[in-house]
Amino acid sequence: MRIDIITCLPRLLESPFNDSILKRAQDKGRVEVYIHDLRDYSTDKHKKIDDYAFGGGAGMVMMIEPIDRCIRELKSSQSYDEIIYMSPDGQQFSQSMANELSLKKNIILLCGHYKGVDERVREHYITREISIGDYVLSGGELAAAVVADAIIRLIPGVLNDETSALTDSFQDGLVAPPVYTRPAEYDGLKVPEVLLSGHEKKIEEWRFEQSVKRTKQRRPEKE
Ligand code: ADE
Repeated sequence: MRIDIITCLPRLLESPFNDSILKRAQDKGRVEVYIHDLRDYSTDKHKKIDDYAFGGGAGMVMMIEPIDRCIRELKSSQSYDEIIYMSPDGQQFSQSMANELSLKKNIILLCGHYKGVDERVREHYITREISIGDYVLSGGELAAAVVADAIIRLIPGVLNDETSALTDSFQDGLVAPPVYTRPAEYDGLKVPEVLLSGHEKKIEEWRFEQSVKRTKQRRPEKE
């Protein structure tokens, strides 16, 4: 899979992709991530990528031209399954959306800033708009990192233990059960007996019951 991220703040995206699972996924060749600085596609001598909104009002709007030039250049070397705009008014991101996107070959994530992008970009280039929640971030970069992370960890071979993404919260519509590690007793606080029993079937049943109970408590709307 290939993910291209278009941003006017490329440095904001450096660290998430240069550490831990996301870095290993790239090192192993499971995913290619390219970060493109929108300013490199500006024809303006000051590398301007935004301008005042027609009709007035506070805040700048990202211009169509640098975005068009960047997308055109990318499309000249490969085709894209999705060109996604990160926006607080997009469709709410979810595990099922991450699952779906992890099956794509090439995607572009466009990070918005200021008052957003010229509407013509959304109308003519964007295939999908994603929000990571009903709150407004300073820009789409952190949201793009969240979406890319959720997708990349699902790509086969990215996680060492192949089953661990399958047992994540939400993969079966349930949140994950509680987990414990050594010591079995700490300062009088004990680990549930069943987990120490070695009885695989009972452990599996207990985990399922706990997941159902937690889902009822924490996500009652999922019932
Ligand atoms: N850009 C600003 N806020 C955002 C959000 N909540 N989700 C996605 N992109 C955003």
